[in-house]
Amino acid sequence: MLNRKDLLGIKDLDVDEIMTILHLAQEMKQKIDDKSLRQKDLEYKSLITLFYENSTRTKVSFNMAGLYQGMDVTDLGVATSSVQKGESLVDTAITLDKMGIDCMVIRHENSGAPGLIAKNVKASVINAGDGINEHPTQALLDFMTIYEKKGSFKGLNVTIVGDINHSRVARSNAFGLKKLGANVTFAGAGTLLSRSMEVTGAKVMYNVADAVRGADVVMGLRIQMERQNGGTFPSLREYSQIYGIDTDVFALADSEAILMHPAPVNRGVELSPELIDSSVSVIDEQVTNGVAVRMAILSLLMKK
Ligand code: CP
Repeated sequence: MLNRKDLLGIKDLDVDEIMTILHLAQEMKQKIDDKSLRQKDLEYKSLITLFYENSTRTKVSFNMAGLYQGMDVTDLGVATSSVQKGESLVDTAITLDKMGIDCMVIRHENSGAPGLIAKNVKASVINAGDGINEHPTQALLDFMTIYEKKGSFKGLNVTIVGDINHSRVARSNAFGLKKLGANVTFAGAGTLLSRSMEVTGAKVMYNVADAVRGADVVMGLRIQMERQNGGTFPSLREYSQIYGIDTDVFALADSEAILMHPAPVNRGVELSPELIDSSVSVIDEQVTNGVAVRMAILSLLMKK
C-alpha cells in the first residue's frame, strides 16, 4: 500500500514504496496477456487523463491500466476543452474534481503543474511528466525492466546518454536509481548536459565512449526540441556521429548489458537502427512494463 494521495515524483518515494510498486507490477503484468486473470478491482473508480503535451505511450498505457482493472476512463481532450477559452489549470482541475473523478493523470509543460493541482483537488493526482522536472511512472517502468533483467540494483552501473538538461526521465531515473543502490552516469554534449546535473547524484561525463565502457545498462534519450530553442549542436548528422550510440559504442559496455530508451526514438540520431532492433534492446519490454507499473500505481493509490 502507498500511504499517499498523489504520485508526483520519484524524489518523494522511499525504497520500500518503490519496491512495493515493482512487486505488484510483476503480478499485474500477467493480467496484460491473460484476460482470465483480470478482475474489476477498481470498478466504480474513475480516471481522467489531462495531457497538455503530446503522448502515445504514457496516455494510452494509463487508459489500458485503468480499463484492465474495471475503471471508468476518460480523456479531457485539452485541445477541444474549455482550456482553449482561457480556463486556468487549477479551475479546470477543480471542475473535474466536482464531477467526482477519483484520479487525474496530468502531463504539462510547466514543472510543478501536477503538484499545484494536487493541492487543490480531492482526487489522486499522478504526474505523467511535468516540464523538465520529473516523469515518475516512466522511471518506475524503467526500474521494473532493469529489475527483471538484472535481479537487483545494488552496484549496477547505469549510463544515461543524451539531452539530459531537458530530460525529466533522466532526473527521475537518477533520483530513484541512486536510492536503490545503483551508480548513475550522465553523458552527452556540454550544451545538453550541465555540471549542475550532479545534484541528482549522477556523475557527469562528456565522452560517451568512456561513459558507456563497462556499463550494465545503457539508456539513450531523445533530443527534446520542444523544450529548447535549438543551436545546441551543429547538425543531427554530427550529433549522431559524436553522441549517438551504435553497435561499436555499445560493444564497450558489459557483455551482458541492456539497451533502454523511454521512446519515442529518433532512429539514427541517438541510437542506430541496428542496435534498436538487436537482442540487447529492451525498449519493447519497457512499453509492456509501462502498463503493468501503471496498473500497480492505480491499484495502490485507489485502494489506500
Ligand atoms: N516515454 C514517454 O513518455 O512516451 P510518450 O511521450 O509517448 O508518452
